[in-house]
Amino acid sequence: HVLSVFILVSCRCSEKEKNPLYWNSAAQHTLQNALSLQELNKNIAKNLILFLGDGMGISTVTAARILKGQLSGHSGEETQLEMDKFPYVALAKTYNTNAQVADSAGTATAYLCGVKANEGTVGVSAAAIRGQCNTTYGNEVTSILKWAKDAGKSVGIVTTTRVNHATPSAAYAHCVNREWLSDAEMPLEALQEGCKDIALQLFENIPNIDVIMGGGRKYMFPSNMSDVEYPGEHKHMGTRRDGRNLVEEWKDRFKNHVTYYVWNRKDLLAINPNNVDSMLGLFEPGDFPYDLERNVETDPSLTEMVETAIKILRKNPQGFYLLVEGGRIDHGHHEGKAKQALHETVELDRAIGRAGLLTSIHDTLTVVTADHSHVFNFGGYTPRGNPIFGLAPMLSDVDQKPFTSILYGNGPGYKIVNGVRENVSAVDYKQNNYQAQSAVPLRLETHGGEDVAIFSKGPMAHLLHGVKEQNYIPHVMAYAACIGQNRLHCRSFSNRGPQFPASLAKAMLLC
Ligand SMILES: *[C@@H]1O[C@H](CO)[C@@H](O)[C@H](O)[C@H]1NC(C)=O
Ligand SMILES: *[C@@H]1O[C@H](CO)[C@@H](O)[C@H](O)[C@H]1NC(C)=O
Ligand SMILES: *[C@@H]1O[C@H](CO)[C@@H](O)[C@H](O)[C@H]1NC(C)=O
Ligand SMILES: [Zn+2]
Repeated sequence: HVLSVFILVSCRCSEKEKNPLYWNSAAQHTLQNALSLQELNKNIAKNLILFLGDGMGISTVTAARILKGQLSGHSGEETQLEMDKFPYVALAKTYNTNAQVADSAGTATAYLCGVKANEGTVGVSAAAIRGQCNTTYGNEVTSILKWAKDAGKSVGIVTTTRVNHATPSAAYAHCVNREWLSDAEMPLEALQEGCKDIALQLFENIPNIDVIMGGGRKYMFPSNMSDVEYPGEHKHMGTRRDGRNLVEEWKDRFKNHVTYYVWNRKDLLAINPNNVDSMLGLFEPGDFPYDLERNVETDPSLTEMVETAIKILRKNPQGFYLLVEGGRIDHGHHEGKAKQALHETVELDRAIGRAGLLTSIHDTLTVVTADHSHVFNFGGYTPRGNPIFGLAPMLSDVDQKPFTSILYGNGPGYKIVNGVRENVSAVDYKQNNYQAQSAVPLRLETHGGEDVAIFSKGPMAHLLHGVKEQNYIPHVMAYAACIGQNRLHCRSFSNRGPQFPASLAKAMLLC
């Protein structure tokens, strides 16, 4: 019964799809677009943007696409995400040097520093051992954010997690343990051996990261300091044992710059980015709340942060490098809360669209990828337009109960009630925090091991194609921007000789 109703509805709303002309002309249009790509964009990338969906595996991308379409009243499958519009796609192999299924720290070292590393470590090679401070020295590797800064570009970091969390930290820190967020999280031995916490490294290693926006405020303040937004809440107090106030130190450092420190959305939106040189925005003591539960008074959306960041950074005539992390896709999945994870993904995609409006493919290389996947999937022969958080159209032919299309391989959604699988008809599986069923009970669902997608557009985007190691990504981005290690192809450009190709001349004019 249910099935026949669905088929009736979906056929009614997609009458045009019955006509071969519809599919043929759409495919012909796509073919023309593909043919136009044969003339490669070999401009120099003045600007580089990396969008990183933490935990945004391919199943997450597909489900988020359907959600995005359904949020605007369509059946969803035919919708295009902003990232779907990018002309080039590759696959990244995500394993860490010591892990088949990767974590966010080792992978961040790969796609930011160009070197695969051990899980749990950031900005150090695989010769460094997790948690062993004395294996840091001599094994540091630098990131594309630093290469860009060294080349005179402006640089920025925007995330919905703590700014000293695994993903952003590989851009500036060298740390054998991703958990060393401030000195309070570090063992005494590591401090005695001279290792520095990640928050401190954010301000000390690369002295002027022009834009820093995200959460993680408490790691910047001394442990006797109450939080500005949650005064009197003990868990949100500063954590630093060394008594330092890194925000005051940051403000003091740039006496002859126009700098802004902001901690809420209102102050962020009141800023005129044209008059700002450097900006530090710390909007939460820890991670942001999920976008679905965001306090719109105090926390900006990821899209708003990206827009402000680009407007500040793009004033540099030498261009910029921007790292944007949609950091809580991963958290939604770990909690088995697919609805949170997918709404986070839709918001990341909105930020990608906004960045596209503020930049040009002629001088900006934009890459969208993930660090790793999750054991998240959806299936069950659902009909066209089935609500992405809905049920499969049949009962299990084993336990005679319904099941949601979205399921996890493991995680907190494992539900056995009185010895049998929970009957989801009796629960509200469409609520924001519903935890989809999993095959194996775990307090936190795990990462997945399959490849992730790399979407790219702009100068040299075509170099991201095929199945590649994840650490290849910053090598391409640096090559495209003529920064970092291989710049031979840029020589004619820097000599300003008469022989350089027209595309380079064009890039120069744009500068
Ligand atoms: C490094 O530290 C570890 C303990 O974390 C210790 O066992 C080892 O001997 C130290 N190595 C050196 C070369 O100091
Ligand atoms: C925190 O401790 C330092 C050093 O003892 C002191 O100077 C400062 O006033 C204290 N701050 C607060 C908010 O209690
Ligand atoms: C599952 O719950 C629904 C609604 O409460 C009920 O109609 C159905 O019989 C239940 N199925 C089983 C196998 O218990
Ligand atoms: Zn994770």
